[in-house]
Amino acid sequence: MHKVTGDDVYRGYHIPGGSTVIANSWAILHDPATYPNPDKFSPERFLTDTGELNLDAPEPTAAFGFGRRICPGMYMASDSLWIAAASLLWAFRVEKPEGGEQESPTGNYTFGLVR
Ligand code: HEM
Repeated sequence: MHKVTGDDVYRGYHIPGGSTVIANSWAILHDPATYPNPDKFSPERFLTDTGELNLDAPEPTAAFGFGRRICPGMYMASDSLWIAAASLLWAFRVEKPEGGEQESPTGNYTFGLVR
């Protein structure tokens, strides 16, 4: 959430100085121009054709904010998640219970400003 210091115009919209502006990170992270088929779980979108990490793939940093006030903990958070995920995958097998009735998550959101 940011506050506009002075009058501004964005894509033809007048934004009066002092307005509170909330960036739509969700829309940025679901832009099919950057991430084709954005709702699909597709880790390979970050890999090259030969399975290497694609260093040119756009990093999904919009969750950490923008500009001068971008989250300074971004790299620590990303690396912590990487370590946590790698440790979980090393230690456990992740699968549905055998013979059990386990529903897959629908991906539907509940209503609210932050979901
Ligand atoms: C997944 C984890 C995290 C997410 C999604 C996240 C996200 C954010 C977002 C969206 C902002 C606001 C940026 C803006 O105003 O444009 C922010 C600010 C901030 N974050 Fe994080 N953050 C995470 C982890 C961390 C960690 C681990 C630390 C510290 C070790 C941290 C420290 C801060 C601080 C100090 C600010 C305020 C920066 C400022 O206002 O100048 N965050 N974070």
